[in-house]
Amino acid sequence: MEALKLNRFDRIAPFYDKIAGLVFGNSLIKAQECNLETITGYSNVLVLGGGTGKWLTKLLKLNSSCTVWYVEASKEMIGQAKKNLDFTDRIIFIHGTHENMPQQKFDVVITHFFVDMFTEPELESITQQIHNHLKSGGSWVVADFVNNKYWHGVLLKLMYLFFNWVGALDLKVLPNWDRIIQSEYFERTRLSSFYKGFVNTVTYIRS
Ligand SMILES: C[S@@+](CC[C@H](N)C(=O)[O-])C[C@H]1O[C@@H](n2cnc3c(N)ncnc32)[C@H](O)[C@@H]1O
Repeated sequence: MEALKLNRFDRIAPFYDKIAGLVFGNSLIKAQECNLETITGYSNVLVLGGGTGKWLTKLLKLNSSCTVWYVEASKEMIGQAKKNLDFTDRIIFIHGTHENMPQQKFDVVITHFFVDMFTEPELESITQQIHNHLKSGGSWVVADFVNNKYWHGVLLKLMYLFFNWVGALDLKVLPNWDRIIQSEYFERTRLSSFYKGFVNTVTYIRS
């Protein structure tokens, strides 16, 4: 793994939730908590890029028997998540990237505001890797931005400028994640929209 891919969100980790709240109010946490109630007991759940993890409390409270593997590239974000979450005996923290997914099959994969960090070819490869790490019939819950209206494009441009400026990302354009995920052996089952349609939470089922 390239060291450069790690810890790029460290600088903004302490302020991340505050900035998100200032810009989006409670829309992002609503999108993150959406569909977690569909995760059944004893599920093995893989979270990629979970950030400060506040949203995970809902899942761990609703579901007393699931286990979570939390793969996160930022050491500081993992530190924040450990502070925010009480149920650390049911979470296995892994400081790494999607290239460090544990070698096992999961019931559920969760990515919130994760697929927006990759180019389309990168995301095609990640989708294939997630497919390989999910059991047949398993689900992938995605919450992320979409670009369906003029003002979505304007806000996205500003957000990418910000993340480029703080050194967290190099990408400048949102990939068409829904098209890529659906073309790689996943079927869309549930879709909810937030922040006037700028954020979608979608559950995909692996075929
Ligand atoms: C935009 S933030 C979203 C955080 C959180 N999921 C949320 O919804 O608030 C992206 C997170 O993914 C992490 N990250 C970036 N690249 C990653 C990778 N390749 N694998 C795992 N985590 C990654 C970053 O450190 C950061 O915490």
